[in-house]
Formats: sequence, structure tokens, C-alpha cells
Amino acid sequence: MAHVNNNALVDLLCERLAVETGGVDIYQAAIAKIDDPMLAARLTHFMEEEAKHRDLLAAYLDKLGVENRDTPSARLARMEGQAYMKLVGESTTPVQVINVLLTIELMDENAWEMIVNLGRDLHDDEMVRTLSGALKEEKEHLRGVRGMMAALTRESLVVADAIEQ
Ligand SMILES: [Fe+2]
Ligand SMILES: [Fe+2]
Repeated sequence: MAHVNNNALVDLLCERLAVETGGVDIYQAAIAKIDDPMLAARLTHFMEEEAKHRDLLAAYLDKLGVENRDTPSARLARMEGQAYMKLVGESTTPVQVINVLLTIELMDENAWEMIVNLGRDLHDDEMVRTLSGALKEEKEHLRGVRGMMAALTRESLVVADAIEQ
């Protein structure tokens, strides 16, 4: 196994933990603003998976013996989460709400992909095995939220077009 800067790895995992923790709150706030029950149900499923990822990371950090999870990147991630909460609060349409979730999921999928690839580079099979399931689900979140965004945007454009005629 290659030499690992343990502090950097812990910072990365703690950052992810902070994002997933904040993600649950953001999803909850977003769902409260969505009237469509089908859409809300799908988002609730994603929220439950974010909570699962949070618990998975917390258990993994327990196993690594990491007690202090208030790392510099985790602190920034928490602040970022608060900013997204504010954006959801200010959103007045479903498109705006979903747009915030799309931004989050783009970064989320990217970060999980990077972490799992890092585990592969380090030949850390346990890390790869533990975290790969979450990456698969994050890919589904991104695909799902991207699809919602496209459908809602299309819907809003069709309405605008009909009014114009
Ligand atoms: Fe996530
Ligand atoms: Fe996600």
C-alpha cells in the first residue's frame, strides 16, 4: 500500500460526513417545499440514503479510531450546507428547489467517485468495499435529480409558451 497522509484522508472522510449530515437537513427542507407526492416520495428515498451514507461514514471513522471529526474541510462543508439551506428557504418554485439539490448532488457524486478511486489507488480493499455502495446510490441521486430538473424546466417552459399564444 502506498504511503498515506492520514490527516488528509481523515479530513476528506470528515468532510464527506459533514456533507452527508447537512444533506439530510437540506433534503428535508426541500421536500417540505415540493407539492407533487411522487416527486416528494423519490426525494424522501434519496434523503434516507444520505442518512445511510452519514451513518456509514460515522461507523467507518469509528473503526479507524477517529474521534475528532471537526476538521478544517468538515467546517467548510458545514458552512456550505448552511448556505444551501438558505437557498432552499429562499426558493419559491420547484425548479429552484431542485436546482439546489442538483448542485449538491453534482458535487456529492464527484466526491464519492474520488474517494472510492483513492481507495483503489491505495489498494485499500476495505475502503473500496465499504464505500462503493454509497457511490452507486449517489450516481442514482444525480441521475434522478438531473431528470427532475429537466422535466420541471420543460414543464415551466411549455406553460410559458401556451400563455404567449
Ligand atoms: Fe450524499
Ligand atoms: Fe446524494
